Amino acid sequence: MQETLTALVAKAQTELAALKTRPEFEAAKARYVGPHGELTALMKQMGAVPKEQRPALGKLINETKTRLQLSLDDALRAIEALELQAQLGPAIDPTLPSPDPGPGTYHPLTLVREEMCRILRKAGFTVADGPEVETEYFCFDALNTSVDHPARDPQDTFYFPETARFGNVSKKIPEEKYLLRTHTSSVQIRTMLKTPPPIRIVSPGRAFRRDTTDATHSANFHQIECLYVDKNVTVRDLKALLDYIFTALLGPQAKTRFRPHYFSYTEPSFEVDLSAKHLPKVNKEWIEIGGCGMVDPSVFSAVGYDPDVWSGYAFGMGLERLAMLLYGIDDIRHFYQNDLRFLKQFA
Ligand code: DAH
Repeated sequence: MQETLTALVAKAQTELAALKTRPEFEAAKARYVGPHGELTALMKQMGAVPKEQRPALGKLINETKTRLQLSLDDALRAIEALELQAQLGPAIDPTLPSPDPGPGTYHPLTLVREEMCRILRKAGFTVADGPEVETEYFCFDALNTSVDHPARDPQDTFYFPETARFGNVSKKIPEEKYLLRTHTSSVQIRTMLKTPPPIRIVSPGRAFRRDTTDATHSANFHQIECLYVDKNVTVRDLKALLDYIFTALLGPQAKTRFRPHYFSYTEPSFEVDLSAKHLPKVNKEWIEIGGCGMVDPSVFSAVGYDPDVWSGYAFGMGLERLAMLLYGIDDIRHFYQNDLRFLKQFA
């Protein structure tokens, strides 16, 4: 019996060491220690062994079992290592230059953002920046947005807990809360507070709302904001700028129109519709693209500009929306999934 068991272990060790895949392993395991396995069959012979030899034999069988189990464990570890290696692919030296000779490509949102900034720079605008974490004052109060405005509801806006601290974002009022900015309009306030008029700024950036993600909504999205403050600015200047931007971006066929609307920081306020039927996948005559208006005097007062001297216009629009129109993209989620098959189309 002892020789049989030793031979069994030796055979198993050779066989198990050569296994390469999980199905092979499972089959081998069943052959040795499964209910119909070779060891199990030997154990069944115990009954026929004289009583006095049984303890010694039992010990021997247990040792065999342990040794088989160790060989099985080794074999499984080796197979797992092979599987991992297959997943990782050939070894690489991360200190070598990348074998990919391409310089990479711009994200479609970057392309539209840069194009918009280029167009606006030509009209004398400079790029201004503001933080993505904002305070209620810059996002709402200074923009004349009342405390009971729906945009301020925690259902719509991401607030930080009272204990949150952001050393690089200044609070105007000690007890106000931090939040993720719901629009880029807060940059209007930050810029006016530190720059005397006249000003002409464009501010692209990320904004956040508690939206459930679907083909046209995302809790994290991008906007582009414009603000122009000078003497004797009129709605005609605003309309002319928008016409200039959209024909520069989309070609001479692009048309814009205003629809009366309400924003607390502009008076009068409009929604801007765009008509550009020559674009791929556009089959509606008018598509809403953003909001705009003449800066409300209360906003000027909040930043210390004299509303009797200064006038201005502002507008804001979603960059994703613009990119979707321009490139015929039908689902906003494509922008954030980093699928190279999508991204490489904009090379
Ligand atoms: N902040 C608005 C939004 O997120 C867009 C907007 C409307 C921006 C009117 C403006 C404006 O500057 O004047 O929907």
